[in-house]
Amino acid sequence: MALGGVKIVGVGHHAPAHVVANSDLEQWLDTSDEWITARTGMKRRHWAAAGESTSDLALVAANQALEYAGLQATDIDCFIVCTVTPDYYFPATACLVAARLGAKDRPAFDISIACSGFIYGLTAASGLIRSGVYQRIMLIGAETLSKILNKDDRSTAILFGDGAGAVILEAAQENSFLSSELGSDASRPELLYVEAGGSRHPIDRAALDERLNLVQMQGREIFKTAVIKMIEATAKALEKAALSKSDITLLIPHQANKRIIDAAAHYLEMPGDKVVTNIHEYGNTSAASIPIALSETVRAGKIQPGNVIVFVAFGGGLSWGAVTWRWAA
Ligand code: ACO
Repeated sequence: MALGGVKIVGVGHHAPAHVVANSDLEQWLDTSDEWITARTGMKRRHWAAAGESTSDLALVAANQALEYAGLQATDIDCFIVCTVTPDYYFPATACLVAARLGAKDRPAFDISIACSGFIYGLTAASGLIRSGVYQRIMLIGAETLSKILNKDDRSTAILFGDGAGAVILEAAQENSFLSSELGSDASRPELLYVEAGGSRHPIDRAALDERLNLVQMQGREIFKTAVIKMIEATAKALEKAALSKSDITLLIPHQANKRIIDAAAHYLEMPGDKVVTNIHEYGNTSAASIPIALSETVRAGKIQPGNVIVFVAFGGGLSWGAVTWRWAA
């Protein structure tokens, strides 16, 4: 079957108004602005208010993307939300977003693969468009990780923030999607997980007392694997696209830790001005981090037609992935 092309025609992003600076965290955690800045590159993160949900953030980003593209919600054939902090177990957050946008009859589904969500989503959405199933897809990465954080655990509470980024993908003559490399390994889920709340360990009083319904992470282990897998995935994605490191215009990595981003940039031999980082402002927003960074970069006029972008992420699962993308007019 001959595949068609796909391109991005709209971008948008949004973060909650409430900003939590490193100095705010010092108020109740045994931590410091110096430690957080040096170990992670983070200065601030945005945390949703009580009652502010993932679909609330996604909706704002989606409306911005529609406005950017000059489209109505009813012009979209399918809605996908990448999130591990959905409004509910079900309905899917994508269904909520579609209905709230006024496109309630459209297909909509969520992708749950933590920080790699946008990479998996971009791969799936591009495939659906290139194979002719849909003409236009709204792909959103949206999270309210603050709702599943143990705010008394300094090893995780400092890292995560809330936000949403949206892109609209459209069938096109030219083809932006050049390659994808995805992977996962859940042989040790306890490295990064929320232990209770699913079918293996439903929430009960003991789980709540031990805060097993909140994020637990073995950061040092994750750090090492993240660096290795992000570099491997990037190398394989470049190979699949018959590209070399010097062909890359811009690296847009998942914003988990400035030191992880620096390691990936070092491997790709990319100078700092070609690596998009906004970790100082948002912290780690999981599936939202890459689409937020992309939206900011596009809106700042820093991406030109023909530019080759590498998107790369690593996260819970464990999971990882990279996509190479040629920006189209
Ligand atoms: N403030 C001060 N000290 C701290 C803090 C803190 N917030 N957190 C930990 N420490 C201490 C530790 O207790 C330890 O003290 P010790 O030496 O006395 O035992 C010391 O600092 C060093 O701890 P490490 O865990 O070794 O610190 P590290 O340099 O590895 O940084 C971090 C920790 C930032 C969590 C890092 O490991 C990391 O970024 N890991 C990867 C996170 C990630 O990428 N997650 C994947 C995506 S998330 C997702 O998918 C949802």
